[in-house]
Amino acid sequence: MASNESNSAQEAMRARQSATPLADALDEQRINRLAHFDVPAHKGGRMNAELPEYFGKRCMELDVNSMKPLDNLGHPVSVIRDAQALAAEAFGADNAFFMVNGTTSAVQTMIWTACGRGDKIILPRNVHRSAINALVVNGAIPIYINPGRDKRLGIPLGMSVADVKRAIEEHPDAKAILVNNPTYYGICSNLRAIVRLAHAAGMLVLADEAHGTHFYFHEQLPVSAMAAGADMAAASIHKTGGSLTQSSILLPRKPVNPD
Ligand SMILES: Cc1ncc(COP(=O)(O)O)c(C=O)c1O
Repeated sequence: MASNESNSAQEAMRARQSATPLADALDEQRINRLAHFDVPAHKGGRMNAELPEYFGKRCMELDVNSMKPLDNLGHPVSVIRDAQALAAEAFGADNAFFMVNGTTSAVQTMIWTACGRGDKIILPRNVHRSAINALVVNGAIPIYINPGRDKRLGIPLGMSVADVKRAIEEHPDAKAILVNNPTYYGICSNLRAIVRLAHAAGMLVLADEAHGTHFYFHEQLPVSAMAAGADMAAASIHKTGGSLTQSSILLPRKPVNPD
C-alpha cells in the first residue's frame, strides 16, 4: 500500500515535471511573430542578416526582452514563478531562484543572506573566489579550515568532520558554514555529518554546488545539499547540468526566508 502510494506520487511528480512553462511562453511569442518595438534591436533577427546566419533563426527569435507574457525575473508572478516552483520540487528545495550571473551571484546571495558585517562564517580555504569577494563586500569574517592536500595527486581535499567540529567549538558564534559539494576537483566532504554538527550549534549550512548539479539526479552519486539537509545551495546548472552559460540556481529551504 505504502509503496503504491509512493509510486503514484512519483508518477504525479513526473507528470508535473514534464511541464515547461517558460519555454512554452517563449515559443508562443516566437510562433505569434510579435512585432518588436523594444530591445534587442535585431528584432528577432530581422534587422541584421549576419546574426541569424551565425546563431540560427530560432535562436534569434527567442532572444527577447522581458515582457508581460514572459514574466519578470525580478518579481516573477507567472511563467517564471511556475518554472521556479517546478525547479524547487525537482531539487527538493522549498524555493528556487533562477540566477543569470552564474553561481557567483548565488554563492554571494547565500553569504549575504546568512551573515552581516562582523559575523563569522566557517569555510574551507579552497573556497571559490566568489565567496571571498562576498566577504570583502559585506565585511563578514572568514574562519578558514585547511582542507589538506592529496600528496600523490597534489589536489586540495574537503573539510574533515573533526576540523569542522573544532572550528564550531572555537567559534560557537559563527552564523554559517559553507561547504563545497564537491570541490573543483570533485572531492566531497561528509555533508550529512557537517549539517548535523552545524544545526546542533544553530548555524546555517550553505553549499556551493557549482560542480554538483548532477548529484540531484542520480542515486549513485554523492548526496546533494538539499538531501543532506543543508539550508541553501548554489548549483551551477551551466556547469554540471548542461544549460546555457551563466544560468545557475539558488535553492533555499526553511528556516531561510525566501523573501
Ligand atoms: C566551486 C565554485 N564555486 C562557484 C563558482 C562560480 O561559478 P560561476 O562561474 O557560475 O559564477 C565556480 C566557478 O568556477 C566554482 O568552481
